Amino acid sequence: MTDHDEPRGQLWHGRFEVAPADELVAFTGSLAVDQRLLVDDVACSKAHVRGLHRAGLLTEEELGAILGGLDAVEMEFRSGRLEYAPGDEDVHTAIERRVTELVGPAGGKLHTGRSRNDQVATAFRRYVVRELGDLGSRLLELAGVLLARADEAGTGDDGARLPGYTHLQHAQPVLLAHHLMAHAWALLRDVDRVVDCRRRADVSPLGAGALAGSSLPLDPDGTADELGFAARFENSLDATSDRDFAAETLFVCSLVAVHLSRLGEEVVLWSTDEFGFARLDDAYATGSSMLPQKKNPDIAELARGKAGRVIGDLTGFLATLKSLPLAYNRDLQEDKEPVFDALDTVRLGLGALAGLYRTTTFLTDRMASAADSPYAAATDLAEFLVSDGVPFRSAHAVVGALVRRSIDEGLPFAELVAAEPQLGERALPLLAPGAAVRRRTTPGGAGPVPVTVQRDRLAAALVDARARVDRPGPATER
Ligand code: ARG
Repeated sequence: MTDHDEPRGQLWHGRFEVAPADELVAFTGSLAVDQRLLVDDVACSKAHVRGLHRAGLLTEEELGAILGGLDAVEMEFRSGRLEYAPGDEDVHTAIERRVTELVGPAGGKLHTGRSRNDQVATAFRRYVVRELGDLGSRLLELAGVLLARADEAGTGDDGARLPGYTHLQHAQPVLLAHHLMAHAWALLRDVDRVVDCRRRADVSPLGAGALAGSSLPLDPDGTADELGFAARFENSLDATSDRDFAAETLFVCSLVAVHLSRLGEEVVLWSTDEFGFARLDDAYATGSSMLPQKKNPDIAELARGKAGRVIGDLTGFLATLKSLPLAYNRDLQEDKEPVFDALDTVRLGLGALAGLYRTTTFLTDRMASAADSPYAAATDLAEFLVSDGVPFRSAHAVVGALVRRSIDEGLPFAELVAAEPQLGERALPLLAPGAAVRRRTTPGGAGPVPVTVQRDRLAAALVDARARVDRPGPATER
């Protein structure tokens, strides 16, 4: 006799003579991860048994007993009193086992016409649909913080300005509002992707059974409707094996994480003594255990670092999906951990970065003096020559030569500009502080005229995106 010999109440015990090996239980169980789906799974089970009742497969009493049992399990879970049994391979097994303990033989009818294959896909989609709604809200919150900070920085002629960079080298000055709103537009595209991804996730697989549906008169439309899904599945093989919604969620999270890493990196740079563009609020910075003078941007650094992890969640799961034959394969159980991890990571990151960006002080004097390097007007000087009819390539060469002489010979750039016959005194106003940014008038460009327009468009886009995120359905239920 080994300890496997006693069947442990597995869902399939009728077919097997001995209980599963300990190693199998240890390796294949998923309860530690998927118990997070318990509330969703209970909701799906309630819809399922109501469907069975409509189909005449459950009496009124049986329905009442099972619904009561499901409510009790949910309450035990929420209050931390639900005890798991050794045979509870996953959350679905645990629920069915506990309902049966609570309500007796009627519990044995809970699984009628259903497989864990359609069950897990339904509960997981329900969870993901709701979490995507939450992700959309949090993205909008951070975008709103960026808009508020842009307003504070100012979009008019006297708005705060800083060097704009390419290759991390000074390029042309831009309004700080323009810089902050650039990140907000990226987050708005994330919101778009969230809403789009949610639309495809919002399909109920319930009724697809193990892979082929059932001989019983199930009502997948009715259960989909009751659960608040937009539609039911069209193909039972696809319904039970499709995890595109999980892969898409992981991609959406990965790109959000990449955007957060870029927002983080700029705070890391800006808060250095070398840049000196930002001072962190004490509540959003950390100290050093050894160096008393240090104030560290750990949130910003982890926003960079955790992007690697979220991208790993995506690539790892794509590898899991690759080459899987139809329909359900146990490999698919590996879908939940990366999705939970990615959603958790970006949720916490969005909150932390919203706080960081809300409270960071932008040192705008320092930004302005860096922006007002006379060389910042180099493009304007070349464009000044262009308006005199000089081909841009020659104008570029003339101004480039002045910059080189100024640096090599240590001569003030303004003096060289004044002395250059093609430019002269009349070009000097271009070198005035702030002139370069005020001259960026192209729609969508970095100067006060277009940035003021952009600001109102961004505000309107945020309102529009909010309405799309908040549409009713399982997304908004908690
Ligand atoms: N825990 C499993 C999962 O997450 C549930 C489905 C198991 N199905 C099965 N036929 N073993 O995928």
